[in-house]
Amino acid sequence: MIRRPALPSLITLAMAAILATSASTGAGLAQSAGSGPAIGDPENGQPIFIMPRSGPFAPQTIAVPNARVIAAWARSGHSDYTAEAFRHWDEDGAIDPECSVCHSGIGFRAFHGLDGGEKGIPKEPVPIGGVVDCETCHSADLGSITEVTLPSGIVHPVTGVEVACMTCHQGRLAGSDVATKTAEMADDEVNTELRFMNPHYYLAGSMTLGGYGGVGFQYPGKTYSGRFLHAKPVATCNSCHDPHSLDLSEATCLTCHFDGTPEDIRIARVSYDGSGDTNKGIHDDLAANSDQLMTMILAYAAQVAATPMVYDGDRYPYFFADANGDGVADEAEGRRVNYGAWTPRLLKAAFNWKAVTADPGAYAHNPPYALELIYDSIEDLAGPLDVDMEALGLFR
Ligand code: HEC
Ligand code: HEC
Ligand code: HEC
Ligand code: HEC
Ligand code: HEC
Repeated sequence: MIRRPALPSLITLAMAAILATSASTGAGLAQSAGSGPAIGDPENGQPIFIMPRSGPFAPQTIAVPNARVIAAWARSGHSDYTAEAFRHWDEDGAIDPECSVCHSGIGFRAFHGLDGGEKGIPKEPVPIGGVVDCETCHSADLGSITEVTLPSGIVHPVTGVEVACMTCHQGRLAGSDVATKTAEMADDEVNTELRFMNPHYYLAGSMTLGGYGGVGFQYPGKTYSGRFLHAKPVATCNSCHDPHSLDLSEATCLTCHFDGTPEDIRIARVSYDGSGDTNKGIHDDLAANSDQLMTMILAYAAQVAATPMVYDGDRYPYFFADANGDGVADEAEGRRVNYGAWTPRLLKAAFNWKAVTADPGAYAHNPPYALELIYDSIEDLAGPLDVDMEALGLFR
């Protein structure tokens, strides 16, 4: 069987030669026609470029053509080893195996068996200091992985580098987890067994797959939009995001849209947020409805769950108790008191609000699905809050 390499073979081979411990380098670089001239000669021990496997990111020898790519990557979030996403385990001295899959190239490779070991969550904690390094996406065998399992349990087929994006940007919980947790519980009864369930962050991969990916809590009796296919040439994450800088290119959007500023892009001719304004970007409709939902979540907590809540996006687990309703989180023994008066209905709405807002690109990744989740959550809270849905004028 001839397996097409996922990425330009020049790179795969070069990366394998320089960075991998186990990869077979196969045929020489000269074969990679179309990939541009090779600088250096890895097979004779002369590197094309040297990047440490992880930290401290001081490339010593960089051939000019790769310098552009490395510079782009070095500016991106993937290389930012000062970010919380990579420093969170510093005090522990090692990254939990299950977290390492997405928080370090080493963990990612171990999970997919790209390091030559058995596939699966690493058995041991992974050293700190790792980022989304070059070899995360340029492992020689990346193309051999053909499916990724999402938190909802759906096994999704992938090709090429998609496996990387879909592994890490899928979130950690799905709406079905919330359904399971709250099954058999009365909708509006506080249950002290419930805690906030966090879908995790930057879950663009699951979001693009919509109702089929199942990242949100999907209300019984409702139908949900599936994968957002956008338009033919926009087929993968990298159609819009440069794989190294992760930036979006305005020029790409402008080939089809009148506007190159993503937040101003709109195709929908209906107003989803009841404002009647169809000149603003779809981004604003989703933002307005998300704000409306948060207002209702706080109202429900105070009126129905009978314990006021405050939301603080900077502090995990984000929802805190505010028994006296003064807008400031309660404290006990110097620590904020986590919200503890969850009802199933409240948890479902908060989960959906968080799932949608945890993906800052939801309005482009899957606008119909994101709008449906928010609408249905608003509608669900409207009942017990006695809010007139019609008067809100929202469109699903
Ligand atoms: C090993 C896990 C992993 C893989 C693989 C991965 N990402 Fe990421 N990605 C992350 C993490 C973690 C962050 C957050 C980094 C931070 O906070 O600095 C991130 C951040 C981002 C961002 C935010 C931009 C920024 O500069 O902060 C974008 C866009 C992105 N990734 C897209 C992608 C795409 C597209 C792919 C596939 C080509 C991909 N990612 C593959 C883990 C991964
Ligand atoms: C399926 C992939 C995946 C797994 C598994 C995963 N994370 Fe993450 N996590 C991400 C991505 C992607 C981001 C980037 C979002 C960002 O920087 O805001 C992130 C961000 C974070 C952040 C930074 C949040 C912030 O506000 O900047 C923390 C802390 C974190 N994760 C903790 C954990 C812990 C603890 C575990 C294991 C129990 C874990 N993660 C497992 C994908 C994952
Ligand atoms: C998140 C995934 C990801 C990471 C991390 C990544 N790459 Fe890439 N890289 C890609 C993809 C996808 C392509 C193919 C781009 C295309 O076909 O347009 C590519 C292409 C390349 C190319 C050839 C195409 C070009 O634009 O010149 C080079 C060279 C390269 N990568 C080097 C690197 C180096 C060096 C690093 C680390 C500093 C790195 N890559 C990190 C995904 C990644
Ligand atoms: C139609 C173009 C498009 C496609 C395709 C696309 N994205 Fe995005 N993405 C966006 C836009 C627009 C944003 C919001 C821009 C922003 O917040 O900077 C965004 C934001 C993100 C972010 C948050 C970045 C941040 O800095 O806030 C991540 C992570 C991300 N996308 C990952 C992905 C992944 C993974 C895929 C593939 C599953 C993907 N994107 C596919 C357009 C796209
Ligand atoms: C090849 C053409 C094409 C390109 C390139 C393209 N789009 Fe689109 N876009 C479309 C089409 C067609 C739709 C409508 C799809 C649908 O509703 O099924 C759409 C829908 C959208 C929507 C939702 C609009 C709404 O009102 O629901 C957003 C947001 C969006 N695109 C953002 C982007 C961004 C950001 C880029 C560039 C990074 C981009 N698109 C590139 C064709 C394109």
